Amino acid sequence: MSIHNANIRAHAAFVVVAALLSLQGCNRAADAGPSEARNAEPAITHVASTSDIAAGRYLVRIGGCNDCHTPGFAMTNGASPAEADWLTGDSVGFSGPWGVSYPPNLRLSFQNMEEEQFLEMAHAGKGRPPMPWPSLVAMSDRDLKAIYAYIRSLGPKGEPAPAALSPGMTPDRPHIAFVPQMPAAPTK
Ligand code: HEC
Repeated sequence: MSIHNANIRAHAAFVVVAALLSLQGCNRAADAGPSEARNAEPAITHVASTSDIAAGRYLVRIGGCNDCHTPGFAMTNGASPAEADWLTGDSVGFSGPWGVSYPPNLRLSFQNMEEEQFLEMAHAGKGRPPMPWPSLVAMSDRDLKAIYAYIRSLGPKGEPAPAALSPGMTPDRPHIAFVPQMPAAPTK
């Protein structure tokens, strides 16, 4: 290695160390467990809109909730169904090591759930994949309340989704397998 190359390497190593040191401070909240990270957020982090319902509608749209909880939504890039049919749950499940989970009909769930119960569920963040529980854990109470207000405002509609299956049980209806597939061995 020439002296010139060695200098470049030493300099690059210094830059990396300096960058790591400066990141250390910012990473403290991310290193903490979910609940500590939540509490480390400034209490005022929330979405502002003309009303709670409007804020909740915005959060549901950017949060991708329709992708799983509304049949056909993800497959049509959100073109259908109309908002009147949003969040009615899906009977196509997701299978994996957790068994089979079905995106519940939130229009019905939220009619049978008090706001406080939803907050507890969201704070705990415990449930089967692929529901993005960490997204709910990270939300401020004000945003969670806005989501609650919006989904309640849609009113009850549709049928309950099938009950989840424990690992080892065989689903008798369509399901999407969340199992990594190995690529075929390369042919020579
Ligand atoms: C990748 C798919 C997916 C996305 C995206 C998704 N969910 Fe879910 N959700 C699920 C599944 C599957 C379950 C069932 C989990 C279980 O069985 O434990 C669930 C469960 C829930 C529950 C519990 C309902 C009940 O009756 O027990 C709530 C509340 C919920 N989701 C809200 C949301 C919200 C709000 C969003 C958007 C921020 C969202 N979900 C995005 C798949 C998804």
